[in-house]
Amino acid sequence: MKLKTYKIALIPGDGTGPEVIAEGKKALDAAAGRFGFKLDYTHYDLGGERYLKTGEVLPSGVLEELKRHDAILLGAIGHPDVKPGILEKGILLELRFKLDQYINLRPVKLYPGVDCPLKGKGPDDIDFVVIRENSEGLYAGAGGTLKKGTPDEVAIQESINTRKGVERCLRYAYEFTRKRNRRKKLTLCGKTNVLTFAFDLWERAFREIGTGYPDIKADYAHVDAITMWFVKNPEWFDVVVTDNMFGDIITDLGAMIQGGMGIAAGGNINPEGVSMFEPIGGSAPKYKGQNVINPLAAICAAGMMLEHLGEEKAAQAIEAAVIEVTGKHIKSLAAGRMGMGTSEVGDLTARITSGAAI
Ligand code: IPM
Ligand code: MN
Repeated sequence: MKLKTYKIALIPGDGTGPEVIAEGKKALDAAAGRFGFKLDYTHYDLGGERYLKTGEVLPSGVLEELKRHDAILLGAIGHPDVKPGILEKGILLELRFKLDQYINLRPVKLYPGVDCPLKGKGPDDIDFVVIRENSEGLYAGAGGTLKKGTPDEVAIQESINTRKGVERCLRYAYEFTRKRNRRKKLTLCGKTNVLTFAFDLWERAFREIGTGYPDIKADYAHVDAITMWFVKNPEWFDVVVTDNMFGDIITDLGAMIQGGMGIAAGGNINPEGVSMFEPIGGSAPKYKGQNVINPLAAICAAGMMLEHLGEEKAAQAIEAAVIEVTGKHIKSLAAGRMGMGTSEVGDLTARITSGAAI
C-alpha cells in the first residue's frame, strides 16, 4: 500500500530557528514512522541572511510554491542586522495575509512539571486556547503619515474590521469550542466601552452567531480585565476569541503562564488553504548555534501541524512525549537551563514519540 504523503514546507528562518526546526523534524519523522504516513519536505531559506545577501524578502515564486504544500512549519523570523519590521512584515505577516491564514490558534496549556509563575496554579487550572483574528485589525496596514519629521507630524493607524472577517473568525471559534468539548465556554475579548465602532461589530456578530450554538456559553471580557483574569483566575477560560492586536498581546501573557516561550506554539490557519505552524517566541539570536535553545515549542508546533493534517494519533503521541520530557527529564524550559542540549531534548522527544523504550 502506498503511504499517505504530506508535502511540508520548512522555513527555518533566523537565529535559533534552524536549530529548533531540526528538532521539530525529528519528532515529525518519528511520528510518521510510527503511524504510517510520509512527510516530504522542501526547505526555503527565507529570512535575514537571504535578505542581506539578495535584498529579497518573499519572492513571488516562493509564495506560489508554498501554496502547493499541505502545510508550512516556520522556525523564527528576525535578524539583528536587519531593521525591525522588514522581515516581520515582509515575511511573517505577508505569509499570513497572502495565504489568508485568518485564524491564529494559540493553545495555553501548562504541562505537568513545568514551572508556573502563578502561585497556587497547576495544570488543571491553565488549559485554554486563544483564537486571534489574523488578517485584519490594526495589522491591516491602513493609515498613513502626514508632514513626517516636522512638528506638525500626523500618524494614523486604523483598525480594519469587516463583517466578513469578523464573522469567519467567530464562526471558527464557536465550532472550535464545540469540537474541543471541554467547558464549552467562548469568551469574546474586546473593548466595547471605548472602541465602540470596532467592538460593537464584534459583539453583535458574536451574539448573533451564538444563537446557532445554544450548547456554548458565550461570555465577554474587556481586554484590560482579561490580562488580570489570566493571572488571577486562568481556570475560568476555555476558548477566548479576539482581534489581531489584542490577540498578539494576550498570547504573550498566555505563553508566560504556561511556562514561557520555550513551550508556546501556534498555528496560522486557513481552514480552506495552506496553514503555517510556528513556535511563537522570536529568533533569540544571542543563543544561536550554542545548542541551548529549547526546541519544545517548535516540537509542539509540529504536533499542531499533524493534528491539522488529520493525523490526530501522531499529534497526540508528540504531545505525550513533550509531557514526558517536561515532567521527567528536563530541569527547566529556559534556554541554557534545561540540563540537556537542544539536540538531546529533540532526540529524546523523538524517541518517546516513536514509541521506543527509553
Ligand atoms: C507574533 C509576533 C508577530 C506579531 C510579529 C513578529 C510581527 O509577535 O506572532 O505574535 O505581531 O504577530
Ligand atoms: Mn506577538
